[in-house]
Amino acid sequence: MNIARIGLIGISGFGSIHLRSIEYLQGKMLDLKAVVAVNYEKNKDIINKLSLNGVKYFKDYRQMLNEMKDLDFVVISTPIHFHAQMAIDAIKQGFNVLLEKPPAVTIQDINAIIEAKRNYNKICAVDFQNTSGTAFRKLIEYIKSGKLGKIKTIIGVGCWKRDDSYYQRNNWAGKLVVNNNYVLDGTINNPLAHLLNNELIIAESSERGGGEPKEVISELYHGHRIEGEDTTCVKIVTTKGIEIYYYSTLCNMQEETPYIIIEAEEAKIYWNYDNKFLIKYFDGNEEVYDGGKEDLFVKIYENMIEHLFEGKELYCSVEITKNFVLASNGAFESSKKIFDIPSEFIEVNIKNGKKFTYIKNIREIIKYASENKKLFSETNIQWGKKTELFKLDNYNKFELFKN
Ligand SMILES: NC(=O)c1ccc[n+]([C@@H]2O[C@H](COP(=O)([O-])OP(=O)(O)OC[C@H]3O[C@@H](n4cnc5c(N)ncnc54)[C@H](O)[C@@H]3O)[C@@H](O)[C@H]2O)c1
Repeated sequence: MNIARIGLIGISGFGSIHLRSIEYLQGKMLDLKAVVAVNYEKNKDIINKLSLNGVKYFKDYRQMLNEMKDLDFVVISTPIHFHAQMAIDAIKQGFNVLLEKPPAVTIQDINAIIEAKRNYNKICAVDFQNTSGTAFRKLIEYIKSGKLGKIKTIIGVGCWKRDDSYYQRNNWAGKLVVNNNYVLDGTINNPLAHLLNNELIIAESSERGGGEPKEVISELYHGHRIEGEDTTCVKIVTTKGIEIYYYSTLCNMQEETPYIIIEAEEAKIYWNYDNKFLIKYFDGNEEVYDGGKEDLFVKIYENMIEHLFEGKELYCSVEITKNFVLASNGAFESSKKIFDIPSEFIEVNIKNGKKFTYIKNIREIIKYASENKKLFSETNIQWGKKTELFKLDNYNKFELFKN
């Protein structure tokens, strides 16, 4: 196997997870040649350590793109609102790209990345690492083979908790717009983006266009006092008539394993973030699969490199994530605003010096809504707000929230 020469843009924050994967594969599958960090002082220990191993440091990513022409690909792990511009710049300078999720915030930006990629004939993969687990790969194989029959409904549920420091860690967390750039940070675009993306990939694997959102109705709420959403329900109908439901919160009492339930013609399938699935066939047979503990981040790198050198299918190409961006934009268009959960339904707890915001009974509310395929406003909760269906025919520009 060839060794891929790579450059990494963004080394702190989530960049440290990239460095961990890179270190694991260094010399075996890849060779880190350059890193970019805007703040030298903050990162000087790691930069100095890398420099001793021959890794070049750049303050500006454009300089790296100008000077390191022989890289096989560049990795972009920077704030959400920089993804599209950096990916397009890299592609136009002749680089393949492994881009952090979400690939882009708006439909116009994802279209621009895909267009650049086509024009310059480059590879662009997205670091939606939950597409790389063995259980998910096997499930996709089963769906493509047709053995589960046509997919009718997909339901995704993710209930996590976050304390206030999560929203204070940088200048874009929990924001809709930063310096006139879209971020739309929240469950959909950030922590539980993987859940929605996997649902859409499942739908797209069943038939071409199966995961392409045609219409969306959604309700976006926040329990935390932030701009963005932290508690959401979305219903998507795709061009092939598959119904996709997505329920998320960061205001749960505990961290629970997100899961997806698929209703297909031949079986009901349960997949979860623990790399497991259970298939209950309607003929009475059952199949359980446990992929065990895997480093999904490393597996995304391996896939990128195997795609590059051996033509192996990409787990998550930028093209397939267009459905995700469409669904996300559709959700914001349908809800139009982020509704406050009134304070009588909120509980704030301080634990070990950390301040947590809970929405009362959110776990039960999501359980009931997801089991009955209802939006929150269709249940009997008092804070539910009705919204309007948004049709995505010929949709090509997101322009909410900027005055
Ligand atoms: N795949 C996952 O599960 C996962 C998990 C967490 C975060 N992420 C993603 O990782 C990305 C980074 O998140 P984060 O929390 O590390 O953000 P962050 O704000 O901490 O910034 C990350 C890095 O970007 C660098 N950066 C900022 N501006 C830059 C510029 N102009 N040029 C070059 N580098 C610049 C910073 O130096 C920093 O190293 C986001 O897209 C986020 O969605 C993915």
